[in-house]
Amino acid sequence: MSTFPSFTGSECEEDDVEYNKICDKHKHLLETLPKSGGWMEQHLYNYNGFWLNQMFLKANLLVHTYFKSEPTDIVLASFMKSGNTWLKALMFSTLNRDRYSFSNHYLHNNSPQSTIPFLDVETYPMTDFTTVSAPRLFSTHFARTLLPACMSSCKFIYVCRNPKDVLVSKWLFMSKLRSKDLPPLSLDEAFELFCLGATEFGPFWEHVLSYWRASLESPDKILFLRYEELKKQPEVVVRKLADFMGKPISMEEEKKGVVGEIINLCSFENLSNLEVNKKGVDKFGRLLEVEKKGFFRKGEIGDWKNYLSEEMKDRIDGITEQKFQGSGLIGFGE
Ligand code: A3P
Repeated sequence: MSTFPSFTGSECEEDDVEYNKICDKHKHLLETLPKSGGWMEQHLYNYNGFWLNQMFLKANLLVHTYFKSEPTDIVLASFMKSGNTWLKALMFSTLNRDRYSFSNHYLHNNSPQSTIPFLDVETYPMTDFTTVSAPRLFSTHFARTLLPACMSSCKFIYVCRNPKDVLVSKWLFMSKLRSKDLPPLSLDEAFELFCLGATEFGPFWEHVLSYWRASLESPDKILFLRYEELKKQPEVVVRKLADFMGKPISMEEEKKGVVGEIINLCSFENLSNLEVNKKGVDKFGRLLEVEKKGFFRKGEIGDWKNYLSEEMKDRIDGITEQKFQGSGLIGFGE
């Protein structure tokens, strides 16, 4: 079961002036922003250059008003279906490696989604994160430029993935979440919307560039990773993660094989076969429930070849080349 309630913005609390302002702004934005067909709901709204549905738009307004970031916060950012689940597990187990033994680990009984709160589904009143000890971990799918300015003092770990694999993974995932009141979204329709950028949190390319450019400006603040490099050289990435989060792997840990333990614990094979990830739903805030098994499908590089035609491949590769030209981002043709 997946649920995604419709969001009317009518549940305002009369005594909170700030929140009432948000409700009014949300309502006004829904009436005035450019619209596109949605993947999960009927419409997406173009807000400051990025496409959001009603719920994510409201959550963005809430985060801007109520979220108080700390310079010690570490935020996992990604476009949907780019490796968020995997990174959640890796970041959590790397940071907390003294707290759990690998033979009896938190992740054996809890889904990776439970390890890091997702800012994009925050509702009113917003969760109190002030009691969480530093470094607090958060995740988001919002593009860098959609986040409040106060978050520029946080550290970010961004993971990106080949857009062709993202498109296929997202289409299959969203088809399950799509409102039953709407006709199914065909791959051709999803492809067209994706190419036009009209996809939740998209356009894909501008999303990646928003973090890529920020990572070039502040490499100490933004660690830019690729799903494909993680697949090919997980041990290199785990060491990078540990360094970046301020908890480098010691010589002693290297000798004990800690890096390998983290990789095995968080591997697709291990996580997807755990009972806890096969049944039930993950709850995101109070508004969204998604079947746990939906976060594990194939976990491979290049599965797009089983879905996209040569013509589709050429079109996406052409857009990618054009959008990333001169940025230094290369190698998305695989
Ligand atoms: P596929 O649909 O291509 O299989 P996200 O976590 O950002 O929602 O991304 C989901 C994608 O990552 C899915 O891709 C999923 O199978 C894959 N995935 C989930 N856990 C993984 C892991 N531990 N290792 C590698 N890939 C993983």
